[in-house]
Order: sequence, then structure tokens, then C-alpha cells
Amino acid sequence: MRLFIASAVALAMAFGGMAAKAADPIVIKFSHVVADDTPKGVGAQLFKKMVEERLGGKVKVEVYPNSQLFGDAKEMEALLLGDVQIIAPSLSKFDKFTKKLQVFDLPFLFDDVAAIDRFQNGPAGKAMLTSMTDKGYLGLGFWHNGMKQISANKPLRSPEDAKGLKFRIQASDVLEAQFKALGSNPQKMAFAEVYQALQTGVVDGQENTWSNIYSQKFHEVQKFITNSDHGVIDYMVVTNSKFWASLPPDIRTELEKIMAEVTKKVNESADTQNAADLKKIMDSGRSEIIKLTPEQKLKWREAMKPVYTQFAPGIGQDTIDGALASNKAKTN
Ligand code: LMR
Repeated sequence: MRLFIASAVALAMAFGGMAAKAADPIVIKFSHVVADDTPKGVGAQLFKKMVEERLGGKVKVEVYPNSQLFGDAKEMEALLLGDVQIIAPSLSKFDKFTKKLQVFDLPFLFDDVAAIDRFQNGPAGKAMLTSMTDKGYLGLGFWHNGMKQISANKPLRSPEDAKGLKFRIQASDVLEAQFKALGSNPQKMAFAEVYQALQTGVVDGQENTWSNIYSQKFHEVQKFITNSDHGVIDYMVVTNSKFWASLPPDIRTELEKIMAEVTKKVNESADTQNAADLKKIMDSGRSEIIKLTPEQKLKWREAMKPVYTQFAPGIGQDTIDGALASNKAKTN
């Protein structure tokens, strides 16, 4: 009898333990490298809020901004190791996993964010989301940041002005070639290190969006910013494909719905955020904004053009043509 009671208690404890385990929420760590008040930062917080409203108790989202948990290269590794579950690297940082995404780094390819949106929502863009599942990355959506501007401590009006200067770039071979085409010295560097590198003169300049420039205070250590709109910083929100497949189907479906809603909101407001941050930079009086005439802009475009011939074979001319066509396409 005593044995029976003891076994019953052990059994109850075991099941009790399992029940407690089953009730533990699924934890999604969302790590990224930018500030909270940027398009990506706002998106991550909104995702957390909506998940906790709609899946509260079942899923918990922890957001780690500003490279707090992992910086650029580390977060890609951490996702594969299961140390984080969602990251949203800029499209430039997938360089070593697929050549297709290099299309986004081609200089002066997209006229504006609306064109990027059309391309990403077309068949070629959508296919990119699932193009890295064999490497463990599953794309959940594209989030916009915006067009890149180029800064330094001297005014950059013509491409010749950039000659001999050291520029910080993201880990992308296309961006490396872009600055080499200008006769500059590109240096791949993690985002978290850029402010200090600019401040101490390790590099002379950098390229980024208004929201990243403002939120990282780059304008306080760069005297001039050229409004070049010469490229783009956008993101792929990615998860670990095995983790995603392991989620209970009803939870996974709801998370995908939420992600689609957040994506829509982020992409509707990214332009506004960048315009507001440009205004804040101008109001600060810390950095002079250089506007280019159409003729000056054409010179930058021509100076950077050799990059296309170099990278077209890897990217695929059809992908480049599709991206170019999105500049003209109309949204119905
Ligand atoms: C950069 O490294 O400059 C950007 O990719 C940072 C970001 O995530 O916007």
C-alpha cells in the first residue's frame, strides 16, 4: 500500500511537472543592432506588444536592441545556435549566404522605397524569403528602413571628393566594390563600432539612412552629409527554420499573421521616420546637409556603375532587370 501511494505521488509529481512545463510560454528572443526609435526598433517592439496581446501566456517576446545581446556577425550565428529566435539583419549582411540578395546593394538601382516595396512583393522578392532555408534561415518578411546617404568630415559633392577616404561599410562585397570604384578605402565593420570609429578617425566616413545616422549620433561626428540616396538599407526578418517548424501550428499561424500586420505598419511608416530624423539632424545644426544637382548625382551614378558588371553574374541579370522594372511599375 505504502509503495502504491509512493508511486502514485511520484506519478502525480511527474505529470504535474509536465503540466507546468507545457504551460511555460515559448520565449522568442528578438535581437537587433539599432535603436528602439528607428523603423526596425519600432517594428520589434510592436511585434512584442501584439504577440503578448494575442498570444499572451503562450508566447513571450524579449527584444534586445542596440547590439545589446549580439552584434552583426554574432546574431547570425546565434540564430542558428538557438540563442535567439528572430533577428532582422540588413539585406547587405546576407552576402555570404546567398548572392541573390546582393541585388539590394547595387548602387542607384532603386529610385525610392516604393520601388523596393514592389520588388520585394513580386515573385522574385518573395522567393528570396525561402531561399536560405537549407542554411537554417527562414524569412518572415521584409522591413524597410530607407535610402542611404553618405557622410564625411569634408564635403562630398562629386565622386572625386571621396577618393582616398576610408569608409565604414557593412559586411558586403558589393559595398566594398562600390567604394573601391570611387578610389576610396572601404572597411567592413560592425554597426556597434561605427560611432567610435568616426569619432576617433579610424574611418573618415560612412553611408547610412537618416534614422540610423540620427539615432546613433553619427551627425555629431561628421561635418557633412550628402543627400545622395545612392542605395538602400532594408531588412529581412529571419527566424531559425527548424525552430519555426517546431512551433505548434496554431501558434505559428498566429505569429505569421501578426508578423504580416507589423510588416505593413513598419513599411508604411519608415519613410516618415527617416524624414523626421533628417529634420532633427538639420535642426541640430551639427552637420551640413549637401543637396546634389541632377548632374552631380549622375556623376556618382556613373562612378559606381562598374559594380554592376562585376556582380551581375552572381545575382542574375533577370533579378537585376526585375528590380529595375519595379522603378516604373505601378501599384494597383
Ligand atoms: C548598418 O550596419 O549600418 C545597418 O545595417 C544597421 C541596421 O541594422 O540598420
